[in-house]
Amino acid sequence: MNKTKILLIGCFLALLTSCTYDSENDLIAPDGTDNEDDGSGEDPTDSAITYDDTIKAIVDSNCISCHSSPPRNGAPFALVNFSQVSARANGILSAISRQSGAAGAMPPAGRLPQSTIDAFDEWIEKGTPEN
Ligand code: HEC
Repeated sequence: MNKTKILLIGCFLALLTSCTYDSENDLIAPDGTDNEDDGSGEDPTDSAITYDDTIKAIVDSNCISCHSSPPRNGAPFALVNFSQVSARANGILSAISRQSGAAGAMPPAGRLPQSTIDAFDEWIEKGTPEN
């Protein structure tokens, strides 16, 4: 999955800069990471996927019955605010991407719609902006 994400972000960076392959920086973030923290918001193609606009509603309706503060029903941590959700963004994406019934698949009652999972993935790619 990480390779795919790096490729996706590489394509995104390539679009932002140029369509040529003349520089490694077109394909890989300069610091070698997948650039998840770049929530600069300066890209005109940024969509409106932010914690306040989209992510909070997803977590509120599907997760906080257990991941409340304090957590209930054996959930290991709370997911009630931006810092808790953004700090665990990759673990959450992993859990909601698992097949229904797989170990650690969230929510336990059944997989969310693919469009919801995609929205969460995109939020991470944008650098988990709060608003
Ligand atoms: C019915 C209660 C319940 C709901 C609803 C629920 N969880 Fe959980 N969650 C748990 C429990 C219990 C665990 C620990 C046991 C496990 O991992 O299965 C857990 C574990 C997790 C973990 C760690 C899993 C791992 O393997 O690393 C994540 C991440 C997580 N939940 C995210 C979420 C998200 C995001 C939602 C909403 C989309 C959600 N949970 C909804 C009860 C719940």
